[in-house]
Amino acid sequence: MQFKIKNICCIGAGYVGGPTMAVFAKHCPNININVVDINSDRIAKWNSSDLSELPVYEPGLESLIKKYRGKNLHFSSEIEKKISEADLIFISVNTPTKSKGIGAGQASDLRWIDASARQIAQHAKSNTIVVEKSTLPVRTAQTIKLILNSPDIGSKNKTFYVLSNPEFMSEGNAIKDLENPDRVLIGGENSEAIQALISLYSNWVSSEKILTTDLWSSELSKLIANAFLAQRISSINSISALCEKTGANIKEVAIAIGADKRIGSHFLNSSPGFGGSCFKKDISNLVYICKYYGLEDAALYWQKVIDINNWQSNRISQIIVNNLFGTITCKKICILGFSFKANTNDTRESPAIKICSGLLDEGASLKIYDPKVKKDMIQKNLNNFQIKENHKLEGGDWCFSNSVYEAAEEADAIVILTEWDEFRKLDWEKIAKVMRSPAWVFDTRGITNIKDAKFNLINTWSIGDGSN
Ligand code: NAD
Ligand code: UGA
Repeated sequence: MQFKIKNICCIGAGYVGGPTMAVFAKHCPNININVVDINSDRIAKWNSSDLSELPVYEPGLESLIKKYRGKNLHFSSEIEKKISEADLIFISVNTPTKSKGIGAGQASDLRWIDASARQIAQHAKSNTIVVEKSTLPVRTAQTIKLILNSPDIGSKNKTFYVLSNPEFMSEGNAIKDLENPDRVLIGGENSEAIQALISLYSNWVSSEKILTTDLWSSELSKLIANAFLAQRISSINSISALCEKTGANIKEVAIAIGADKRIGSHFLNSSPGFGGSCFKKDISNLVYICKYYGLEDAALYWQKVIDINNWQSNRISQIIVNNLFGTITCKKICILGFSFKANTNDTRESPAIKICSGLLDEGASLKIYDPKVKKDMIQKNLNNFQIKENHKLEGGDWCFSNSVYEAAEEADAIVILTEWDEFRKLDWEKIAKVMRSPAWVFDTRGITNIKDAKFNLINTWSIGDGSN
């Protein structure tokens, strides 16, 4: 079967669907791309004439949307219609952790995958290529194939070709990663279908970077890549605590070990723990799969990566309270950064949520500033706590600040939670003048010019710094 791809439909206009299809639109000018979503508010934002309203913030995304939206890139809620017109369909819907039932807290909730497969079975034409873009438990393609081929669902006499093409982009770097991926992975059974997808990527990715495997290796590799990355962060974070006890410095240790090519220098920044929508859910899923196949010791091994991550954020909360004389009731704490990493507006599983909630539970008043996370998103994440105006803070509540300096006013402490560039070179002389003495800075990313803070008589704590 020779495939001629003229129309692509992407189901799911989220952090992956939107940026990924924008890059496809740029490099495949003769292909019409429709990104569809059940969330009509999200679609309206993708279609907003004010590009600062796009639902996803990513450096470089606005200019792509400006250039290709309305040309060969379209966002809509016409799911059935766009599915019916497509030659190739990406499934890019959310796959969060199940919150109840069998496997709750660990297994992936595949209800959106199931629904997408049913929509495709009903509305797609025959000989459509269906591509798993979402991150999925190994062997999900089998389930998708069963749904697509079920005569009861409306797919009588239709043939589908299922491929796995997991996405490895990271938020904040999405456009760069999509433009210049380390590799593109395609798993499948039908060589012509695989070739059709390769020919799309070949418009901008060199052939040696395009790897092909069987379906199951491709599905599993995505989970394992995330597990290995997260494991590195838990490893370095566990050592940050040891550095603080022994007088060593985590940055020096990271440079020393990273110089060994076998270890490599990337992904060795200690932090308040990994956040984001994927690491925790994907490792939890891996733990579940290991248990499902009776591999208890392997499950325990990966569970520890998550346990260390929780331990890291808890120990940081404890350090803040201890240094502020064991009580933070009614103290004002300035929080710098709320997103789970820099250069994104995403707050899913951000360590900031847990740390801020802990400080609020202890009775602190928080003044929160983030360059890209909007007030209503922080409110959603801290929904157990009251939002107030700056001058009305009474303890156990928080307010939104529009700048670092506004947030630092009258604060007893500053806690840096996200590694935004803006926090790397703060004017500590200016900040020291507006804080309440004795003032503290807790740098949980080890990024700010801490010596300047010290020079301005601010007490300092920086992650993994044994000279603290
Ligand atoms: P997201 O929640 O931002 O977006 C998913 C979108 O799918 C939502 O807008 C939702 O409304 C839509 N959707 C759900 N069911 C639908 C249906 N039946 N029809 C139409 N639309 C539907 O999620 P995301 O961050 O884009 O992640 C999507 C998948 O990609 C997940 O499996 C995730 O693990 C994986 N992934 C994410 C990233 C990342 O950086 N966020 C990177 C690589 C892989
Ligand atoms: C991660 C992977 O890097 C992507 O390859 C993958 O596609 C994606 O998950 C996914 O499947 O969703 P992402 O979560 O967007 O991407 O961002 P990362 O850069 O991996 O950061 C994740 C978390 O780890 C952040 O909270 C970050 O601050 C933290 N981190 C990262 C560290 O604490 N230290 C580091 O050295 C690197």
